[in-house]
Amino acid sequence: MEFKRHLVTAALPYANGPVHIGHLAGCYLPADIYVRYLRAQKRDVKFVCGSDEHGVPITIRAMKEGITPQDVVDKYNAIIRDSFADMGISFDIYSRTSNKTHHETAQAFFRKLYDNGVFEERESEQYYDAEKNTFLADRYIIGTCPVCSNENAYGDQCEKCGSTLSPEQLINPRSALSSAPLVKKKTKHWYFPLDKYEPWLKEWISEGKKDQWKPNVYGQCKSWLDSGLQPRAMTRDSNWGVPVPIEGADGKVLYVWFDAPIGYISATKELTTQWADYWCQEDTKLVHFIGKDNIVFHCIIFPSMLKAHGGFVLPDNVPANEFLNIEGQKVSTSRNWAVWVDEYLKDFPGQQDVLRYVLCANAPESKDNDFTWKDFQDRTNNELVSVFGNFVNRAFVLMHKLCGGRVPALHTDVMDDADRALIAEISNTKNSIEQCLENYRFRDGLFEVIDLARKANKYMQDKEPWIVAKAVAAEPEKQKLIDNCLHLCLQLTANLAILANPFLPHTAQKMCYMMKVVDRMLEWENAGRTDLLKVSYPLRAPELLFRKVEDAEVAAQVEKLHNNLKKATTPVMDNNTTPQQEAPATEAENPQYQPQKPEITIDDFMKIDLRVATIVKAQKVEKADKLLQLELDLGYETRTVLSGIAMHFKPEDIVGKQVTVVANLAPRKMRGIESKGMILMAQNADGGLVFAAPVVPADNGGEVR
Ligand code: MF3
Ligand code: ZN
Repeated sequence: MEFKRHLVTAALPYANGPVHIGHLAGCYLPADIYVRYLRAQKRDVKFVCGSDEHGVPITIRAMKEGITPQDVVDKYNAIIRDSFADMGISFDIYSRTSNKTHHETAQAFFRKLYDNGVFEERESEQYYDAEKNTFLADRYIIGTCPVCSNENAYGDQCEKCGSTLSPEQLINPRSALSSAPLVKKKTKHWYFPLDKYEPWLKEWISEGKKDQWKPNVYGQCKSWLDSGLQPRAMTRDSNWGVPVPIEGADGKVLYVWFDAPIGYISATKELTTQWADYWCQEDTKLVHFIGKDNIVFHCIIFPSMLKAHGGFVLPDNVPANEFLNIEGQKVSTSRNWAVWVDEYLKDFPGQQDVLRYVLCANAPESKDNDFTWKDFQDRTNNELVSVFGNFVNRAFVLMHKLCGGRVPALHTDVMDDADRALIAEISNTKNSIEQCLENYRFRDGLFEVIDLARKANKYMQDKEPWIVAKAVAAEPEKQKLIDNCLHLCLQLTANLAILANPFLPHTAQKMCYMMKVVDRMLEWENAGRTDLLKVSYPLRAPELLFRKVEDAEVAAQVEKLHNNLKKATTPVMDNNTTPQQEAPATEAENPQYQPQKPEITIDDFMKIDLRVATIVKAQKVEKADKLLQLELDLGYETRTVLSGIAMHFKPEDIVGKQVTVVANLAPRKMRGIESKGMILMAQNADGGLVFAAPVVPADNGGEVR
């Protein structure tokens, strides 16, 4: 289908905290690259976003900071908006779901479904805080976890053991808001019958999107559809949100995942009176950029809502990314394991494009990926500085030195194969980047840009115009070779500006300044041409496009990360989880636990020989407070293992216990005793240890896998 216009959305971030680089890499940067590319092609495109200002994430943050929800959203909306603007994320509008247009739009949407009889009304009993006179969202109910006995588990999740819970499962449930005893009270809600849309969704997604959507996106949808959809409540008992626009719904608001995606529509309305063209014309290409935790909402729930309403286009694609880890650990906003964009901009002023580069080069497009400051340094220094920046700088310096500061002519009579190959590379690169960007492969696209610069460097190195220059006095016709080389290097520089522009817009602007050309040169159709800079046109002196990242800066950032890391404190909400009660179990975050280590393959795991054993003898080790010397029966042999558990167990109490042993660990001598293996222990948050062993007796020597 020929699309006439594009509507590109980026997930509305919750205004309950600043944005971190994982947000950028996952959603906003790829969206921005895509949109800048479309704009450069002069295609009709609108890029909308805004703050998601409703829902439990906001009210939790308000409670934690002791301010009102309105204060929370005002504060973070400003911070987030400024971070995006500073990073050059070029939304056509950045709106807010707390504004009037949005409330009206969301209410009209709900009303239309209501009037069409789409919703099912259901009564249920929900926990109620009689002192605060309010129903309690699952997150606001605290009690003892039935799985791990954590006394501060939430009604939707225990952050200590990660179990997904419902309030009913909690032992001694209590309110997070007051000390009033919990009571149950009847409440009515409106449910969207997702089950009825299942056949349609199956056809639309399974048949229509299978080869079009990214495998990670398609796969998640498929597994939701395969496990069967249930009606889902679209209203909540709360005083923070969009009021439910029907009689008798006092104290009820729209479920945040009902109103937020409608925010895309409201934002478009605010942006242009032509908004309906973008939302209702078949020839609009609607693309939602999101992170993987939002897939079900954008691929299943919102499309069903649009379908039920009628008259709207459906997303053509939802190129969701996976998550970006930091220094090998999952991002955690509650533990402050994150690189915050506003802080980066303070620490690296003017270095937006460097971050854009590194995040795009490492974008978690098909699997979770890792950001490290060392890699940030390496990519900056070895790719941006040494390859891209260096090439442009040399081209300018040599042009000033050997060609009088003006674009030299191209003398076709002395052109050679290398010249022609370079010209071909320029237009090939343009085509490859188009292929990449049209298919949401941003990393590959960026790679093409840097690769062109790499080839250009090689071309210049091979041509050695600075050496040829020494011969010019004796053989004046050799100046032609110098001219050709620099002519092409400069034309290539102009191309680099165009091709890099979607990725590195600030750099492209600097390059335009150096080349004394107007922004219009950056239009995509100019790429591939080698007559962009007119012969004899005087160019400015070069500016350094990128600067090196020093070792000390890397060390300081790594240290900052570790210093900011909050050690085991009371569980707090993470703003990258989706806390509404019916949200899919997103990665449970437990502030008291070690973050997961980097992924390993099954082959890595299979190298470890784990066996069941029984402790047949245990004794203290002299002059070692912590060590116990254990004799273990592995069935096929008995061996000695030293274990640092003396502070936790008396020798006589553990004889006879079964344990799991790493049997093929290299032997190690401690206090003159050789230890052959290691026993596995689980550590609790309070530092206590328990044996990680079979729950029922197993055969000694049996493999654990
Ligand atoms: N606020 C949600 C999050 O941060 C995303 C909302 S996207 C929208 O996960 F479509 F609902 F707007
Ligand atoms: Zn638990």
